[in-house]
Amino acid sequence: MDLLRRKTSTEQPEGQQLARTLTWVHLTALGVGAIVGTGILTLIGVGADRAGPAVMLSFVVAGAICACAALCYAEMATLIPASGSAYTYSYAVLGEIIAWVVGWSLILEYSLVVSTVAVGWSGYAVGFLKGLGIVVPPALANGPSLGGVVNLPAVGIIAVVAGLLMLGTRESARINLVLVIVKMVTLALFVLIALPHFDSANLHPFAPFGYGGTPGPGGVKYGVMGAAAIIFFAFYGFDAISTAAEEAKDPKRDLAIGIVGSMVLCTIIYMLVAAAAVGAVSFSRFGNSPEPLALILRELGSPGVATVIAAAAAIALPTVLLAMLYGQTRIFLVMARDGFLPQRLAAVSARGTPVRITGVTAVFVAIIAGVMPLDVIASLANAGTLVAFVAVAACVLVSRRRDPHVERPFRVPLANVVAPLAIIGCCYLFNSLQRVTHEYFLLWNVAGLVLYFAYARRRAVLG
Ligand code: ALA
Repeated sequence: MDLLRRKTSTEQPEGQQLARTLTWVHLTALGVGAIVGTGILTLIGVGADRAGPAVMLSFVVAGAICACAALCYAEMATLIPASGSAYTYSYAVLGEIIAWVVGWSLILEYSLVVSTVAVGWSGYAVGFLKGLGIVVPPALANGPSLGGVVNLPAVGIIAVVAGLLMLGTRESARINLVLVIVKMVTLALFVLIALPHFDSANLHPFAPFGYGGTPGPGGVKYGVMGAAAIIFFAFYGFDAISTAAEEAKDPKRDLAIGIVGSMVLCTIIYMLVAAAAVGAVSFSRFGNSPEPLALILRELGSPGVATVIAAAAAIALPTVLLAMLYGQTRIFLVMARDGFLPQRLAAVSARGTPVRITGVTAVFVAIIAGVMPLDVIASLANAGTLVAFVAVAACVLVSRRRDPHVERPFRVPLANVVAPLAIIGCCYLFNSLQRVTHEYFLLWNVAGLVLYFAYARRRAVLG
C-alpha cells in the first residue's frame, strides 16, 4: 500500500527555502508571460489549416477546457500553497505512485515547452539577424532532423534565460513584466489593423473539415476537435503560477487572482486575434505558415507593421521560456526534496534561487532544443499537460469528499460539474492527438515507472 502513501506536510527543510518576493501583479504577468507565445503566434496557422475558419470554435473549446482546469488549479494552489504544482497536489491527495506519474508528465510539459519555444524563437531570430546582414550557417541553426548539426540560437537563448533565473526571482519577474507588455501591445496592434478588414466571405465554408477529429494523412486529426488538440498549446502556462506558491507574498489570495486573471485575459485576447485573423484573409492563405500573423499583415498591405510584429515576437517570446523554465526548476526542486532526485540538487543560493537545479535543467532542455524536431516535442508537451490537468481536477473532487470541512481560500464554483468537465475535456483532447504522440507518451511513462520501482521508491523521504 506504500504506493498510495500521501505526503501530509509541505514544510521546507533548512537551506531549501525560497525567498518570498512576488505580488499578484508579478504572478498575473508570469501567467500571461507563460500563456501567450508560440501557440497564438505560430500554431494558429496550423489550427486554421486543420479546421478552416472554424478554428475560432477550436479556440472556444480549448479555452473552455482550460478555464475549467484553471479553476481547479486555483482551488488546489490556494489549499496547498507549496511549490511543485500538480505533482505536489497529487502527492498530498492521490498518493505517491500517481504523484510520480504526474511529476514525470510535468517534465514533458515544462521541459518540452521550453525546448519547443526556443526552437520557434530561433527561427525568428535567424530571420531577424539575416535582415541585419548576419547569416547564421544552416548547420548551426538546425538540429540533425533538419539536416543541421545543432540549433545554436535555441541553446543560446536557454542559457540566457537560465542565467537570469539564477540571478534572482524578483529580477526575472521584473524583466518578465516589461516583456509581457511588449507582447500585449503587439497583439493589440495586430487586432487593430486586421479587424477593420473583416469580411464575412472569408468565413465560407466555415468548417471545411467537419467538427470532430477526422483522421488525415500521417495520423494527423483534422476538424474542429483535431485543431483544438493543437490550439490547446496556446492556452496553458497559467499552471506555471502555481509553481511559484512558495515565493508569493500572499499565496492564498494572489495565486487565485494570478491563475484565473491571466487565463481570462488571454482568452479574451485570443478570441479577438482569431476572429481578426480568419475574418481578414482566407484561412488557406496563412494556414501552416511559420509566421501567420506577420503574413496576414503583409497580405493586408502593411509590410512595415508585419516586420515590427515579427521583431516584437522575437523580443517577447522568451517570457514563455522564463516562466516554464522557472516552473520546471521548482518542480524538480520539490521532487529532489522528496528524495526522488539527488538531494544535493535542492540547495538554494544566498539570493534565494535554486542555482544547481536551474543549471542542470537548462542543460537538459538545451540538448532537446538543439537536436529534436519541433512538431513531435510540441504535441508531447500537450500530452504531458493534459495528464497534469486531469490529475488536478481529480484532486479537487477527491479532497472535497475526503475533507469537506477544511477551509478553502478559493472554491471552484459548481465543482461537481466543472471538475468532471475538465477531466472529460482533457481526455477527449488527449485522444485527438496524433498517434505517434500516444506512442512516445507511453514509452516515456514506461521508462518513468521503471525508474520509480528501481530507484525513486526506495529513496522517497516519506519511506
Ligand atoms: N501557451 C504557451 C505558448 O503558446 C505554451 O507558447
